[in-house]
Amino acid sequence: MTEKVQIAVNGADTAADVEPRLLLAHYLRDVLGFKATNIGCDTTSCGACTVLLDGESVKSCTVLAVQADGRSVTTMEGLSPDAEHLHPVAAAFHSEHGLQCGFCTPGMIMATVSLLEENPTPSEREIREGLEGNLCRCTGYHNIVRAVQVASGQTAGSGA
Ligand code: FES
Ligand code: FES
Repeated sequence: MTEKVQIAVNGADTAADVEPRLLLAHYLRDVLGFKATNIGCDTTSCGACTVLLDGESVKSCTVLAVQADGRSVTTMEGLSPDAEHLHPVAAAFHSEHGLQCGFCTPGMIMATVSLLEENPTPSEREIREGLEGNLCRCTGYHNIVRAVQVASGQTAGSGA
């Protein structure tokens, strides 16, 4: 048995008949082909799958596609369509080298966008707390924190 869902993704209406147990992460990746939403664990712990659901960050491996029915989702592809059109948070991650392998980066950026929406000038502690649900195996977090500080205008970027 399937259920019909209609979800606005990156500003475009999408619709499909899906299994009720289909995760939003798999709807985005496998049904729609938005592969920037990574899946790094099966324990709700890594945050690589973070997207914006009605503007708030969620781990899309914890949300069923049917729970997003009638709602709006933004993925990394919607936030920064290409290298010429980087969202300011993505540009800051780039300029501050806030990534190495890049696997965590889309989720980290989506979580940052949500964090700065709630708190436009977070302290370092608030940044670390705000991103504690997003794991990075590579960077040691220093440059990620700096990227968030640059994106929030609290410090000049390396390119400035
Ligand atoms: Fe969603 Fe790890 S894949 S939290
Ligand atoms: Fe590799 Fe974060 S940059 S996991």
